[in-house]
Amino acid sequence: MAPRVCPWWIGYLLVSPLRRLLQNPDTILAGFVSPGMTVLEVGPAMGFFSLPLARLVGPAGRIVCVDVQERMLQTLVKRARLAGQADRIVARVCGPTSLGLDDFTEGIDFALAFAVVHEMPDPPRFFAELARLLRAGARCLVAEPKGHVTAPAFEATLATARQVGLGLVGRPVIWRCRAAVLQKGEAADRRAAPGSYSAFKPAEFPRPLV
Ligand SMILES: C[S@@+](CC[C@H](N)C(=O)[O-])C[C@H]1O[C@@H](n2cnc3c(N)ncnc32)[C@H](O)[C@@H]1O
Repeated sequence: MAPRVCPWWIGYLLVSPLRRLLQNPDTILAGFVSPGMTVLEVGPAMGFFSLPLARLVGPAGRIVCVDVQERMLQTLVKRARLAGQADRIVARVCGPTSLGLDDFTEGIDFALAFAVVHEMPDPPRFFAELARLLRAGARCLVAEPKGHVTAPAFEATLATARQVGLGLVGRPVIWRCRAAVLQKGEAADRRAAPGSYSAFKPAEFPRPLV
């Protein structure tokens, strides 16, 4: 059965300020993003994470937002305009099995895939495309809702990513999520024990685009 895509109207619930109490974007993204970076956000919906990301990358950075639902992206762009951050956002509608971002090949410094991989019809294809888009050494934070994704299913997803050169380097703790930090070119899994936590210093990150 094809995975079910989150209905557009749920997008309004996902940007509720109350969510910040349990899943604070600044806490979740701290240490991953620095000024000037080009960040890919897959499945941003109406931009709960996109606007904080836009603030973190600053005026020299870019947030590339791709979603299968145009309606989500339209509201995301409206919210970015209101926040004075629209010039940092590149919003594109993508297909269910292709991000269509060949012009960003090896140009992404950090990627976020929050609560989206379980909605994809072909996760192995997604990770292969993601691996091509990331710069060498760049990281991706993948988080999936515990209510939709079992622990074995999440481990199977990580195994798929590993096969295309995205190795597991961390297991951040995020409320009601199964989460992992993947790194391009990381062959061996480090700090891979479920439940373990690793923090990353900005100095570890690849150089941002200027
Ligand atoms: C549950 S929402 C999560 C939204 C956002 N990441 C958040 O945490 O607030 C999933 C989003 O992923 C999008 N989506 C589903 N399948 C997708 C795909 N194959 N490629 C890109 N986006 C997709 C949906 O349209 C929806 O906006």
